[in-house]
Order: sequence, then C-alpha cells, then structure tokens
Amino acid sequence: MGLSRLGQVLTAREIRELVADGLAEVEREIQLESIASVEVVTRISHHLQGNGGKRLRPMLLLLVSRLVGGRSDCAVRLGAVVEMIHAATLIHDDVIDDARTRRGKPSANVLWGNQTCVLSGDWLYMQAFQIALRLRNFAILDILISLTQMMVEGELLQLERIGKAGITEADYMELVDRKTASLFSACARLGALAGGANDSEEAKLAEYAWNLGMAFQLIDDILDFTARESILGKPVGNDLREGKVTLPLIYALGECTDAERDLVGVVLREGSYDRVPLSRILAVIHRYQGIDRARQRAQAFTDKARALISTFPESAYQRALYTVTDLITERDH
Ligand code: IPE
Ligand code: IPE
Ligand code: MG
Ligand code: MG
Repeated sequence: MGLSRLGQVLTAREIRELVADGLAEVEREIQLESIASVEVVTRISHHLQGNGGKRLRPMLLLLVSRLVGGRSDCAVRLGAVVEMIHAATLIHDDVIDDARTRRGKPSANVLWGNQTCVLSGDWLYMQAFQIALRLRNFAILDILISLTQMMVEGELLQLERIGKAGITEADYMELVDRKTASLFSACARLGALAGGANDSEEAKLAEYAWNLGMAFQLIDDILDFTARESILGKPVGNDLREGKVTLPLIYALGECTDAERDLVGVVLREGSYDRVPLSRILAVIHRYQGIDRARQRAQAFTDKARALISTFPESAYQRALYTVTDLITERDH
C-alpha cells in the first residue's frame, strides 16, 4: 500500500490486502492444528473452516499487531488461536440454539449431532489453548482464559433470558459485551502484546475493539431482521424464533401497545412464525423505529471506536482500523 493512499478511505479488499500474507499463514496454521487423532473432529473443523467465514478476528489481531509493531510469528499463532476459539463457540452455539444453518451450509450439529459437536468444540478450545501455551506467556493465557469464561457465562445468561420479552437494554448490552465484544477486545489485546505495545496503547486498542465488537453484534441483530437469507448465510427472523429479544425489538416493546406486545409473545411462546408471520413483527419494529434506533446505537459505538483509533499516528494500518468501523456498520452479512 503506497503512502499516497493514506488519508483516503480504504475498501474492504484493501484492508484485507494489508494483512493478506498473515491471514494466509493463519489459515495454514488452523488447517494443520485442527487435525485430531479422532477423524470426526478434523472433519467438523474443516467443514466449518471450508464454508467461508469472514476471519474478522484474526484480521483485527494482525492489523493491531502491525500498527504497533510489525510482522510477527506470534501474531499469526494468536490469529489462529482466536479463530479456533471463535469456531468452537460457533459449534457450541449452534448446538445450544438448535441451529440448522451456519455460513450458508448445514451447521455441524445437523450433520454430526449434538453429542459429537459438544465434544469436538471442547477439543477445539483445548487445541487453541495448546497453541497459545507454546508461546510460554502467562499474560496471553490470562487473557484467553478470562475471555472464554466471559463468553461461556454470556451464553449461560442468554439461556436464562431466553423467551423473555421483558429483557432490558442493559441486559441486552451485557450479553453483547460477553458474547462478542469481549472476543474483539481480546483480539486487540493479543495483537498489541504480539506487536510489543505499551500498556496505555494496549488499553486503548482493547477499548477500540470492544466498541467495534459491540457495534458488530448490534448490526448482526439488525441484519437478523433486515437481511436476505441467501446473503446472511443463516435464516432471517431467527433470533426471535430462538427466543432472543434483541435491540430493535427491545426498543419497539418499550413503546408498543398491548396487542402488539402479544404478537411478540406468541412467537416467543411458539418458537415459530406460523401464527404470527415475521412481516407483522417487522411492522411493529418499524412503527417504533426499532431498526433506526438500533443503528444509531451501533453508530455511537463505532464513533467511539473511531475516536480512539484516531489518537494513533497515521499509517496504513491506522487507516484500515479506522475504516473497519464503517465496514462493520455498512455490512450485509
Ligand atoms: C458470528 O460471527 C457470531 C457473532 C458474533 C454474530 P461472524 O459474523 O464473524 O461469523 P463468521 O466467522 O464470519 O462466520
Ligand atoms: C453468536 O451468538 C455466537 C457467539 C458469539 C458465542 P448468536 O447465537 O447470537 O449468533 P448466531 O446468530 O448464531 O451467529
Ligand atoms: Mg447463541
Ligand atoms: Mg446462534
């Protein structure tokens, strides 16, 4: 990337190009490290990895590590670690949510069953930790263990809140923090460590990525209502069918009539849109600007992220991390 590009907005492709060599190494590392002595684990892992996925988390980690340092083997290893942790959470998440589709293909639980997927997810978690352990750095293990506990606690809290229409914005934000933002934040922390950042840079980058992660999940929850399934790679209207009341709906439920609230209650109770079609729920959400308001909230998180990354000296990596914030709010899958 020539210096002439600095100061300009980068495209998604240009951002990826900046760390393409590192991402290719991450892919190789994941491929190699996902081979278990029991074949089904390898098959599940390669199924998920081969079906796409944006590889956002290793990309973020690599960009951060190059922002503060340079190319490093450690960042590549950690890129593989975070993507493998992400993969393990997705495999477990699809069991928990009884999902049918992931990345546009049948999810692993559909193909291999819940029992095998739970154990394969466990194996992947441990493999990710083993790669991290080889780096012999307690700070890294500390981040990864706290992160994994945060995420598991998030899924447990979400289970407790499933089917409840009374969930507040604060409850919701807590789940998003645990489920998604904590992993983004850990990616930045690990990238900062790999690149040799000082404590204050590390803290700022972690906060930047946390805000990015919050926005990312809010947009994911908006897309669940607004996207087309063929682009999203998972069914639309899925969250509510799974009993999850997300931000656009929380905003609408705060103002709607009793009759409208009852419509949402029916979908939550029945776990289907058979009696109340998704179009009626969407009409309620739109009536109270649920999507627009959730979008504005996401925008507030990306504004914060942009302000934090703007405090770093300008470089191609800094520009990329700045632009990623827009790509997240404008994405369609
Ligand atoms: C899916 O994450 C889980 C959420 C946090 C919404 P991604 O949308 O990054 O999933 P892939 O890896 O690209 O499939
Ligand atoms: C995402 O949770 C998985 C984790 C971050 C653990 P969701 O259940 O909300 O996301 P999708 O819709 O299955 O990707
Ligand atoms: Mg889930
Ligand atoms: Mg899910």
